[in-house]
Amino acid sequence: MRFHIAADAAATAEMAADSVEGVIRSNPRASIGLATGATMVGVYRSLVRRCREGPLSFAETTVYLLDEYIGLDADHPQTYRNVITRSFTELVDLRDDAVFAPDCQAPGLDIEARRYDRLVRAADIDIQLLGIGRNGHIAFNEPGTPFDAETTVVSLSEATRRDNARFFDSAEEVPLQAITQGIGTILQAKQILLVAQGSHKSRPIRDALEGPVTTEVPASALQLHGDVSAVFDLEAASRLSTGHPQV
Ligand code: GLP
Repeated sequence: MRFHIAADAAATAEMAADSVEGVIRSNPRASIGLATGATMVGVYRSLVRRCREGPLSFAETTVYLLDEYIGLDADHPQTYRNVITRSFTELVDLRDDAVFAPDCQAPGLDIEARRYDRLVRAADIDIQLLGIGRNGHIAFNEPGTPFDAETTVVSLSEATRRDNARFFDSAEEVPLQAITQGIGTILQAKQILLVAQGSHKSRPIRDALEGPVTTEVPASALQLHGDVSAVFDLEAASRLSTGHPQV
């Protein structure tokens, strides 16, 4: 695992965007795994800017979301599909048919989860952007999830629902369930880029990257992957053992 520790959130976003840009420049037809959440806002802003200023182009790229809430109307502003559309995909030159997400309006959600799992595995993701939850979750894989889990319907923990309530008008409105890529699916990506900012991420980051590999900390599964880059600001990195390069 390669650690990159930057001075602040803005610098982590630029470093993460550098990595994504590097993958696309070496292969314009790359498939990119996208995460949602506050962590990624700056990363997408930077990529949008680079695309508008040129020469970065997503015209031949395909993108795949990690997860999607169940139970929201298709036009609800907080579906991850709508979040990623607003913050990234409609602002760059991606083709409309090159953006994939679990379809939580589908009649059979278990069947949809399996369909999406096959789609993502076949896509052979070149780089997967990943955030981390305060409880160590990745995508919506909560503590206790097996590391070989496939894409499936999951229940959100109370902790995650509380954390994500900031995006909704009320805590009750936060969905109870989601379809999420499984940890096993995520680990299939050729390269994983973990991004975290803020002191509230320092404990899960330390537990995930320097603690034991355990299903109680879903992100600790990343220790089993051969090509992970981690980009943190000083606060998120503050509990890591010293000696990681600061850039
Ligand atoms: C959600 C998403 C995760 C994300 C996490 C952290 O639960 N399903 O993919 O990593 O939130 O989000 P934030 O970046 O807002 O802290």
